[in-house]
Amino acid sequence: MLADRIEGKWIDAFAEVFERCAVRRGDTAAILSETQSRALNVHLAELALLRLGARPFHIVLPTPRNPHPVPVRSTGASEAIGRLAPVVTALGQAGFVVDCTLEGLMHAPETPDILKAGARILVISNEHPEALERMAPHEDLEREVRAAARMLRKAKQMRVTSGAGTDLTIDMTGAQTVGVWGWTDRPGTLAHWPGGVVVSFPKEKTVNGTLVLAEGDINLTFKRYLMSPVRLLIEQDYVTEIRGDGADAEMMRAYLDAWGDREAYAVSHVGFGLNRRARYEALTMYGRRDTNGTELRAVAGNFLFSTGANEFAGRYTAGHFDLPMMKTTIEVDGITVVREGVVQPVFG
Ligand SMILES: [Fe+2]
Repeated sequence: MLADRIEGKWIDAFAEVFERCAVRRGDTAAILSETQSRALNVHLAELALLRLGARPFHIVLPTPRNPHPVPVRSTGASEAIGRLAPVVTALGQAGFVVDCTLEGLMHAPETPDILKAGARILVISNEHPEALERMAPHEDLEREVRAAARMLRKAKQMRVTSGAGTDLTIDMTGAQTVGVWGWTDRPGTLAHWPGGVVVSFPKEKTVNGTLVLAEGDINLTFKRYLMSPVRLLIEQDYVTEIRGDGADAEMMRAYLDAWGDREAYAVSHVGFGLNRRARYEALTMYGRRDTNGTELRAVAGNFLFSTGANEFAGRYTAGHFDLPMMKTTIEVDGITVVREGVVQPVFG
């Protein structure tokens, strides 16, 4: 249905987001991609930067061989750079980096060095531009995300419950919180488009309880709505039991087991979506190769729970599940921020 061709409207959309990222005439800008990147987005990035009078250049890496025992999806930790020093240096000096790698630089090992050198990174999630266009970021989203991030940074406890049986408690003391609204104009920071999420990386031994992925919740590694419930028991950050009869539970058990790595079972991040333009039903609208599922991470009122690496708890692994759950109630220090999947008017 979607044709992969340059459309003027998509150059417009890219240029609008880059303008929000404070790209000005004469600025240098690196477009980072890999050989398996979505060529259309790489081209649109170049044309939009040129339209703004910037001076873009491309860094293209061969997509590396997958060293893992399973196909890797939705980790947010690109392995494309492979610690190649000249690439890290060039990106650090670029001023503005448009990241079109498949997985994105969010959790890539080179990202701290690139940011420290003063670059700002906009990760363009590997979505078809037809989806990016629809989720152009705006000030209202920025305001809400900033307010939510402020709240989570001060929070002591998050509690998540649901009619399906979820009852999870997270000690938020010392958790690292990131708010993403879809652009960044500040040197040394990273944002992704689409945005509209707050995520917190809790410290170790802070997450306990039961998490029930209900029918209709989403596993973004598999890009699929659950057909039957999966009950996760979580003790001191680790999933210690995965109960459920259907294919969803079976695939979760198999995929996690394939890593042969205890850390794959641990909590990575917790948070929620705030983007009202992001649609719950979006996964049905795109072929699997046309979506990376970031839209589902940002759906307003979801609870986004993730397993895998959490550097703030000293855990490293390439295994990663992002699991947007609908219809939960999220309380932060006793304030209900999401009630049965609906964001409450607490973020201004
Ligand atoms: Fe994640």
